[in-house]
Amino acid sequence: MQTYFRNFLLFIILISIPFLAKSKDPVRANNGMVVSASDIASLVGVEILEKGGNAIDAAVATGFALAVTYPQAGNIGGGGFMVIHLEDGTNTTIDYREKAPQTAFRDMFLNKNGKFVLAKSTEGWLSSGIPGSVAGMLYALEKYGTMTRDEILQPAIKLASNGFIIDYRFAEALNDYKKEFERYKSTKKIFTKTDEDFTEGELLVQKDLAKTLRSIKLIGNDGFYKGEVANLIAKQSKANGGFISIEDLSNYKPIERAPILGLYRNNKIVSMGPPSSGGIALVEALNSLEMFSFENKAWGSSSYIHTVSEVLKYVFADRAEHLGDMDFYPVPQKWLISKERGKEIAALVGDKAIPSNKISHANPPAKESEETTHFSVVDSYGNAVSVTTTLNSTFGNKIVVSGAGFIMNNEMDDFSAKPGTSNQYGLLGGEANSIEPNKRMLSAMTPTIILNSEDKPFMVIGSPGGSTIITTVLQVILNVIDFNMDIQEAIDAPRFHHQWKPDRIDFEHYGMTEDVKKNLSRKGQFIGKERVLGRAEGIIIDYKNNIIWGASDPRGYGEAAGY
Ligand code: DON
Repeated sequence: MQTYFRNFLLFIILISIPFLAKSKDPVRANNGMVVSASDIASLVGVEILEKGGNAIDAAVATGFALAVTYPQAGNIGGGGFMVIHLEDGTNTTIDYREKAPQTAFRDMFLNKNGKFVLAKSTEGWLSSGIPGSVAGMLYALEKYGTMTRDEILQPAIKLASNGFIIDYRFAEALNDYKKEFERYKSTKKIFTKTDEDFTEGELLVQKDLAKTLRSIKLIGNDGFYKGEVANLIAKQSKANGGFISIEDLSNYKPIERAPILGLYRNNKIVSMGPPSSGGIALVEALNSLEMFSFENKAWGSSSYIHTVSEVLKYVFADRAEHLGDMDFYPVPQKWLISKERGKEIAALVGDKAIPSNKISHANPPAKESEETTHFSVVDSYGNAVSVTTTLNSTFGNKIVVSGAGFIMNNEMDDFSAKPGTSNQYGLLGGEANSIEPNKRMLSAMTPTIILNSEDKPFMVIGSPGGSTIITTVLQVILNVIDFNMDIQEAIDAPRFHHQWKPDRIDFEHYGMTEDVKKNLSRKGQFIGKERVLGRAEGIIIDYKNNIIWGASDPRGYGEAAGY
């Protein structure tokens, strides 16, 4: 009887340990790794590493290749952020976010009655900001890379001019957007077929895009921001009611900025600062969550989800009020990422949920002045690069620049077109993120590198997903640091999302049992929608065993490739 009882107890203990299924083992390598949303683009990056290039060379080559093989979000018509850790210990970031054109104005997306019109900020030429990707990637290559433009751009040029074999998911994506593509002659020509749908195994050739890439290869920035390509952009923008001019293009400059730094349970967080809200929101949340300790078995429990959601309400409320382009608005960055603010939020978290309506942003002390893509790269020299880049919506505003072969972004929707009205991600914003000429719109992109206690890169992570980027990156980090998961488990595990307003916790399939939902409701939380949250691409380096682990999110169809 006693033995039976002991075995029974053992059985109960065993089944209560959360065994998380993972899609597969992470990819392992000893020298370098590239993880991106496209298997072809990851291989382009790894080949550069194998030729002796560093992580920056590989990241830029991967970025240009993604513009060909993953036009949903890989781009030269959009913008992005690159977080870099160099082998000599330097941490830096490159901001190549799009900018509002010179003639943009505050109320440009309101109708005659002062009402915000979402279609204006997401469709047509008016929705496009001045693209930053080419200038940003070339800046990174020139300053921190070791290879020539020729070597770095050639793989992308080859993929565009000779074509690449599309897989079934990409074929499906093109077919899903057929109706929208057909609205624009230039897009229809490249991304639709007259009588039939795309099928896997077909070759997709993009001659015009190859021409544009060749022009960038030959004359650098001037091959995009001046001359023929710039003329095509400006002419088509003007003819269709857009604001981007030749001067806007020739004046565009990427900006190298200091990263946002944080410390979470002795791991140094290096992330992106304004105009992204990502790094600040991530560090603010981690500073607060550090005040709690999560036992392994707490993963997925109502108390864990409740605590993280409560913290996120304050973080997103602060984001809406205080974050915007720092070159235009005094973001109280120091205060937002301080341990004090983290503690303050933690002290407000109780057993019962505080309704979002009762939470508003806090003020700093008086004395203080659905498509994006992420890729992660590490090399054998000790450099690491974390890049998130976007056209905003899937395939941006769906408009291919005729004769230049690339899709334009609809990033203007990331501004707060009208304070108090939400954008396509339901995100609210205020004065800090209002439209002004040449201002960069606020982003949630959170490319992040985590360093170990010896200041060596230990994890490289990021994700697409609009507002869910921040909560995705946060949870993958918590899964690794607090719950000891490997990088594939940490990325695969179902996620949840709270962004203050709307006041609800969204969740993923199999991510929340009915019991957990009931317990959360009892605590006063509102249960939201089931949906897919983010698509992370990450790397972890195990220095003890000299292994680099890479993992691509099974929610997408990318791949980790190492050597
Ligand atoms: O910069 C931002 O925060 C948004 N434009 C990102 C959009 C996005 O992630 C959509 N992807 N699924």
